[in-house]
Amino acid sequence: MRQAYRTALVTGASSGIGESFARLLAARGADLVIVARRAALLDGLARELVERYRVAVEVVAADLTDPAQRGEVEERLRAEPVELLVNNAGYGAFGAFADLDLDDQLREIELNVTALMRLTHAALPGMLVRRRGGVLNVASMAGFAPSPGSATYGATKAYVAAFSESLHAEVAGRGVHVTALCPGFTRTEDDGAANLLWLRRADVARAGLDAVSAGRALCVPGAQYKAALPALKIMPRTVLRAAANRMWQQAADSQ
Ligand SMILES: NC(=O)c1ccc[n+]([C@@H]2O[C@H](COP(=O)([O-])OP(=O)(O)OC[C@H]3O[C@@H](n4cnc5c(N)ncnc54)[C@H](OP(=O)(O)O)[C@@H]3O)[C@@H](O)[C@H]2O)c1
Repeated sequence: MRQAYRTALVTGASSGIGESFARLLAARGADLVIVARRAALLDGLARELVERYRVAVEVVAADLTDPAQRGEVEERLRAEPVELLVNNAGYGAFGAFADLDLDDQLREIELNVTALMRLTHAALPGMLVRRRGGVLNVASMAGFAPSPGSATYGATKAYVAAFSESLHAEVAGRGVHVTALCPGFTRTEDDGAANLLWLRRADVARAGLDAVSAGRALCVPGAQYKAALPALKIMPRTVLRAAANRMWQQAADSQ
């Protein structure tokens, strides 16, 4: 059954796809809790959404890699439940694993995986009791292929996709929808036209919201990426690894 969400918490709402989630949800009349580190951007967005859509918007400035600040967001989810949790905040460093700072890559896991798990664990039990709610986890097409040049990021997104699919199966039939959104390359700093490679952030966010509302396990936005997914699954891994490595070497050489 389709669900319409009256309240939502969106992580990483200060820019990019997360900002689009917040705008679309507010336009649909949902009261929001928006979370990220850059408080000034969140405050500006909140003011705009309250004025334009007459919804309530609560700003929570928090670094989701910091256990204490993250704990406050978890507590907020337990104390005042929302109908939809959008785990969107994510980060990926670009470079060879051996050259990149290890602590920085461990922070990627802390944000992309640990925070997503902890917020989901704070929100899901209440949703199951109420037999209603949604969790939309932002993974990536990078989770379906080897990612030389962003090995840790790709691994975190593979985790998010696999974790979300398993949760979807666990809660199926209990009134709660869990969806993995797996975008390909998405323009986050401007809203230029989509093309064969690049998706628009508003289109990505809309596809994710429609998918979780409809109770789909997986959402791959964009016809080109939908078509690429089966190819990624049947292509021999040796061929896929070689192609991914060539792309990363070319990108590294052009920098
Ligand atoms: N753009 C793409 O091509 C693409 C493709 C596939 C998947 N994705 C995924 O889409 C999601 C959104 O990314 P985006 O492309 O929209 O990037 P973005 O514009 O950089 O947005 C990332 C958001 O996460 C927040 N964030 C980063 N570190 C945080 C932290 N430690 N604590 C709390 N919030 C934090 C940022 O806010 P603050 O800096 O204010 O904290 C920002 O709001 C990510 O999960 C990303 O992996 C993106």
